[in-house]
Amino acid sequence: MTRLIFLNRILMQNAPARSFFQFGKAKGDTGKYEQIISTGLVSPERSVPDDIKKPKYYFENLPPGNTLGSPEIKTPDQIEAMRKSGKLAAQILRECGKLATVGTTTDEIDAFAHEKIIEAKAYPSPLRYAGFPKSICTSINNIACHGIPDDRQLANGDIINIDVTVFLNGYHGDCSETFQVGDVDERGSFLVEATRSCLEQSITLCGPGVEFNEIGKFIENYCDKNGLESIAAFIGHGIGSYFHGPPEIYHYYNEYPGEMQPGMTFTIEPILSLGGSEIAVLEDGWTAISLDGARSAQFEHTILITETGTEILTKDN
Ligand code: MF3
Ligand code: CO
Ligand code: CO
Repeated sequence: MTRLIFLNRILMQNAPARSFFQFGKAKGDTGKYEQIISTGLVSPERSVPDDIKKPKYYFENLPPGNTLGSPEIKTPDQIEAMRKSGKLAAQILRECGKLATVGTTTDEIDAFAHEKIIEAKAYPSPLRYAGFPKSICTSINNIACHGIPDDRQLANGDIINIDVTVFLNGYHGDCSETFQVGDVDERGSFLVEATRSCLEQSITLCGPGVEFNEIGKFIENYCDKNGLESIAAFIGHGIGSYFHGPPEIYHYYNEYPGEMQPGMTFTIEPILSLGGSEIAVLEDGWTAISLDGARSAQFEHTILITETGTEILTKDN
């Protein structure tokens, strides 16, 4: 269960934030970094040209689809479309990563991604998804995920997850990576590289006949060995013409039933923390912040189960 604590941004601007939100003390050495304690200014919604095909949720302000039912087996044509959207998401993510330098605002990275996605005749999936106001997610330091791009400038030593999802020819491709800004302290670099490696190894163990829950079992063990915690509140998901659908991929020990089969496409997206695993969601309804102020890193790929193993769809080459 996740405890929810709502912060009031206005109140926080006018008074010391700590009188409203007291981070718990993280156990152990969580390193040296700037803690995010409030959100910044979010720019107006960016427009999407008429000729770009939009997902249904763009028009209806409805919570998108549910996660019931069994995982879809994609046809060869669907798989081909998923390859294209995956590749586009990965290319744009890589380019966004190059902007992750001191002084750049996350709003500038959002503007860049939005432009590139539209140029490719695709739609930025997060925009208006359950009311999300921007085209990508940017999550810095102690923000676990779903950070909303704003006017904060990246600082030397930040780690920032950029999560890019595109909707191209009717299919979504979803990936994210954590980038290091300038000189990141040793604990921060360790966290980022350990999380990257965790995702890579999780993908390697997938293939036809493997239970979905093997992923979480591996990640839990990996965290134990590396002194990390997996943030339980967020899961990987099936993906296709829908942004989120079955199966559910838990990133910790679980007994979720079901086996991977050729033609299934889903994401794996562990968030690993140097501190505890509990988060709160800020008043903006999205920003997931760690309760103890510790940093986390996240990496995500959309993968396809093949006859012999896996194919990473969100590869940029
Ligand atoms: N890309 C995120 C994921 O990995 C989802 C973001 S939902 C949004 O599932 F609305 F914040 F975009
Ligand atoms: Co995802
Ligand atoms: Co994502």
